[in-house]
Amino acid sequence: MSDSNLPRIARTRAEIAAWREEMSRAGKRIGFVPTMGALHDGHLSLVKLALQQADVVAASIFVNPAQFAPNEDFDTYPRAEDSDLQKLASAGCSLAYCPTPNEIYPPGDRTRVLVTEMSHILEGAFRPHFFEGVATVVSRLFVHVRPDVAVFGEKDYQQLQILRRMTKDLGFSTEVLGGQTVRESDGLAMSSRNAYLSAQEREQASAIYKALSAAKAAIESGTPIKYALDKAHEALNAAGFRSIDYIAACDAFTLEAFEDEKAPLDRDGRLLLAAWMGTTRLIDNLAFRREAQKF
Ligand code: PAF
Repeated sequence: MSDSNLPRIARTRAEIAAWREEMSRAGKRIGFVPTMGALHDGHLSLVKLALQQADVVAASIFVNPAQFAPNEDFDTYPRAEDSDLQKLASAGCSLAYCPTPNEIYPPGDRTRVLVTEMSHILEGAFRPHFFEGVATVVSRLFVHVRPDVAVFGEKDYQQLQILRRMTKDLGFSTEVLGGQTVRESDGLAMSSRNAYLSAQEREQASAIYKALSAAKAAIESGTPIKYALDKAHEALNAAGFRSIDYIAACDAFTLEAFEDEKAPLDRDGRLLLAAWMGTTRLIDNLAFRREAQKF
């Protein structure tokens, strides 16, 4: 692919603002897909979804230091800007916003955005800094890009619900959409971190989707939630998962755990889990709903 086919690149607020202004003048509706790069087909499906909802699409590539704890993989997180730009071009993306850290966090920066409660359960109980870092960077990206619609993957389901809440609470006029999780043929959710898995771990990792699917079927047919989750736990242990940070059945919107023995009827639920395969932490989730019998 020649460079002329690559998306335009903006590295500063002034550059993204100039592009945004051009698009506004041309009456274009702007779609936006925030990413941390190391793009795979899951990200590209988000760009394609954004293109169905907007005239032009910008994607950001920014490995956000604020969402990594000091002991996490910020330094080793995969970075591949050249191939990312080619992939974005092939998906029809017009602009890549690749800001330097100073553009997002100006010297002396002291401001953070925290969506309370939802940020401290599930994933947030294990990564207490994480959602504050995400909400902070996404709010800044929204201020810089001013998108009409932004698309986030359902793979990071808690993140999506928190960002919906943040968008409402801060009054952004951006519409937030979720894009379905893209899976490998054995069901493993695509993730930039799958690159850390050895060949054997990669094979074992497909147990996540199988365990979630079995728990979904059981809960939907009235099996007690605790029993279904215990079975999923056992299946993951048997498949070689080192430890399971959480596996929970929650309300799909508030993310509060369902407390009753069986899932409430006719309410959207979500199974969410995080588990360690070797030194790699994987997350996934699946929708469920126990329907009232229709006679
Ligand atoms: O999902 C991600 O890749 C990141 O958390 C996001 C939304 C781009 C913020 O850095």
